Amino acid sequence: MQRLLIPALLLASNARAANLVQPIARSLAATTSAAAAATQPPSASSPAASPAVSFPPVGSVPRDFSPQGLEELWSLVGPVEPPPFTTTREPQLPIPVPSAPPPLYPTWYAPEPSNIFPNLSLPEGFIFGVATSAYQVEGATKMEGKGPTTWDWASRQPNFIQDNTTADVTDLQYYLYKEDAARAAAIGITAHSFSISWARIYPFGVAGSPLNQQGIDHYSDVIDYHLSVGVDPVVTLFHWDTPLALIAYYGGFTSPQIVDDYINYAKTVFQAYNGRVKTWYTFNEPSVSCGWVSQYPFNVSMAPGVNSSTAPYQCAYNLLKAHAGAVKAFREMGISGEIAYKNNDFVGTPWRSNSTEDIEAVERHAAFGIGLYANPVYTNGDWPEIVKDTLPESYLPRFTPEESAELKGSADFFAIDAYASQYIAAPASGISSCAANMSDPAWPACNSVMLYDSNAGWAVGPSPDPASDSWLQATPQMLRGYLKQLQERWPTDKMYISEFGMDEPYESMRTEMYQITEDSTTTNYFMTNLGEALLAIHEDGIPLMGTFSWGMMDNAEWNYGLEPKFGIQNVNYTTLERTYKRAAYALSEFFASHGISNSNSTVV
Ligand code: GAL
Repeated sequence: MQRLLIPALLLASNARAANLVQPIARSLAATTSAAAAATQPPSASSPAASPAVSFPPVGSVPRDFSPQGLEELWSLVGPVEPPPFTTTREPQLPIPVPSAPPPLYPTWYAPEPSNIFPNLSLPEGFIFGVATSAYQVEGATKMEGKGPTTWDWASRQPNFIQDNTTADVTDLQYYLYKEDAARAAAIGITAHSFSISWARIYPFGVAGSPLNQQGIDHYSDVIDYHLSVGVDPVVTLFHWDTPLALIAYYGGFTSPQIVDDYINYAKTVFQAYNGRVKTWYTFNEPSVSCGWVSQYPFNVSMAPGVNSSTAPYQCAYNLLKAHAGAVKAFREMGISGEIAYKNNDFVGTPWRSNSTEDIEAVERHAAFGIGLYANPVYTNGDWPEIVKDTLPESYLPRFTPEESAELKGSADFFAIDAYASQYIAAPASGISSCAANMSDPAWPACNSVMLYDSNAGWAVGPSPDPASDSWLQATPQMLRGYLKQLQERWPTDKMYISEFGMDEPYESMRTEMYQITEDSTTTNYFMTNLGEALLAIHEDGIPLMGTFSWGMMDNAEWNYGLEPKFGIQNVNYTTLERTYKRAAYALSEFFASHGISNSNSTVV
């Protein structure tokens, strides 16, 4: 997705990521909508899309693990804004929850959250979760021994962050995590899915480099505090913020060297928090992070022999081996709990229902999207056949029998960041011609995500903020089919919607709190998806055991900066004060009335 400056595919949790690997067919996109056009990758030769960036050649930065060596790495980033305070703030308990908003609409038009299928309850143990990630909410970027990450660096590159903000301070959750956990508990939330910043644990990233005890201690406190307020910590080891050192030393995930370094980091974290974390993720949305590696500005540093066409696939191969190695270690070490990674994207619906080409395009979308990662883990330990038929080994290394054996079954459940499910069309050039032609703009995935129907051009669903309209729509009517497709292709005994959410249209332009807290589009998104989730559980037998709303609060949304407002809480970026929006109350009421709450909830 590029949110204007970067292709939509880049970021898209759904179309975003998928598009990275599956460029949208220009002819279709160009004639369909501005949103679809915005998903086009930037031209490599366009100076506007790819301003000159300077970064030391791969391998030229010495592995100097001294404090001076760390400063050298930070000098690649440049000056960092310090946080307004540097100690953990103790919240005043209990957190007061102001009175709930009045009903959004007359109930003949939209039921109140407690009246959404009131006779259907959620299974015992179902998780009422919210999600965040380290880069997006922590701030305290250079505090307590942390090393720089790719995003600390990238957020300073010309024209990269759309609103020119950084995440140096953002929500300052690093020092406000107690308040955030307590505020979550106060409205009944039972789990917080957050990520650990690898560069806080190993500032230089690599195995054998110094461990940062302050980082270990920090997350230990975070975990303990969450437990103390009844909010289960759900830990993601990697949510896109690669230690910058690894990019400098060997090109990050484009190099096979990352595998051992990641496994070393994973083992350290497993050991440190074993017994206190029940649910673990190795990676967030791997297709998105592997899409980024070939895109501005990250494409300045790729391993020798890798170029921007092959990088996403070399990354996929290395990342999957890192995942499998970490899960193997997790099991050998006897770490308690369950482990998987967070999938993104969707299978899709043929754009023209009677088109055999569009039906085939859906297969390609599934194969190059979710399947690239999920087939090796959830089916046969190998890449999807369509992908192997299209990509030569020089792009996509093939697994050895040992690697396949390690990958197969390397997840205990299926997690999907289920933001939306949309239509898929064949490229205008036709699938066989596209698949056989490496210079076709839609090669190799040869399919396009369509955001409106083929008959009359109606949108698949309501649009989010313009910042995200290249990839996101509210598509609750698709959710049951979406989850069924996942179960059919990558069956599992347990599923989580590990992220879902929507950025309220134009919220960043609103100035009054009574306007900001009235996030009706987001509220509708959550309530309609949750109603369909109830039906998916009760009528379709989907083993869904939790949902995690993105996000716990407004945050630094990657290359869009602070503009898109996905949070169920507003954050005042001057005072850092948090305010619950309508969506927070609606979620609280929905879950409480369907059997799930936190005993520390103070909602009256
Ligand atoms: C997801 C991503 C999150 C968040 C969200 C909303 O793809 O995992 O970090 O940015 O999209 O844009």
